[in-house]
Amino acid sequence: MDGPAQRKENLNLPAPAMTVAQRSNLSPMTARAYTAWRRRSLSLLAGQPFDLAREERLFLTQCAPQRGGWWLDAGTSTGFYAEVLARAGCRVLAADLSPAMLAEAARQHPHPGIDWAALNVEDSALPDASFDGVTVGATLNETHDPARFLRGVARVLRPGGQVWLMYLRRTGGPVQGVLAHPAAGGLTFPDPAWVARQLPGLHLAHGLTVGAVRFERHVKTTAGRHTAS
Ligand SMILES: C[S@@+](CC[C@H](N)C(=O)[O-])C[C@H]1O[C@@H](n2cnc3c(N)ncnc32)[C@H](O)[C@@H]1O
Repeated sequence: MDGPAQRKENLNLPAPAMTVAQRSNLSPMTARAYTAWRRRSLSLLAGQPFDLAREERLFLTQCAPQRGGWWLDAGTSTGFYAEVLARAGCRVLAADLSPAMLAEAARQHPHPGIDWAALNVEDSALPDASFDGVTVGATLNETHDPARFLRGVARVLRPGGQVWLMYLRRTGGPVQGVLAHPAAGGLTFPDPAWVARQLPGLHLAHGLTVGAVRFERHVKTTAGRHTAS
């Protein structure tokens, strides 16, 4: 006997679209190499010495995360911000699309304050208005749909909560043009004014540009205006 009619033969959901950069992060080899690159990358991109200790100081000075606070590290890779937050006494959900990155991060930072989670921040089932803060270390450059990603971040933030962004801003240079091509990475280099427009209901509390690198702290002022779609 025939079963109930179905609209499609293949009932599997389509695989989520991923940029080449996102797919490259699924590789265990990329995960193993990432920390070495991360140590040097800001100095190269900022055009001046900018080590992880300086980035950590900047973040802690601007955001002053409170002990016991509940933070999401969105696109944690090998866990740099997750570990800084855990050392500051916060509880952290460190999320990434890449199980390989999460495995490497958990190996490097076996901190009891960190939970590691494989999820897509663009389309997560995390509860609304639940986090005191969200860190986004360059994930904005790699994610498939940065506007959707920022909506997903804003949605999970509680009123009064803060978002810390570190990203490569648009410089208009030829290298960025190549890396933005879908076949060469599909990276996005957002303009700070565009980023601010994607975060209605948040205000920019601090912004710092160092070469191509942009740091921003946004604070959520209103509730309920964000629905990830
Ligand atoms: C540039 S790395 C992030 C580095 C890390 N935040 C840091 O500060 O060292 C980007 C990471 O975000 C992850 N990623 C990209 N898009 C994502 C998404 N939509 N949701 C969750 N993780 C994502 C990638 O797998 C990759 O590990």
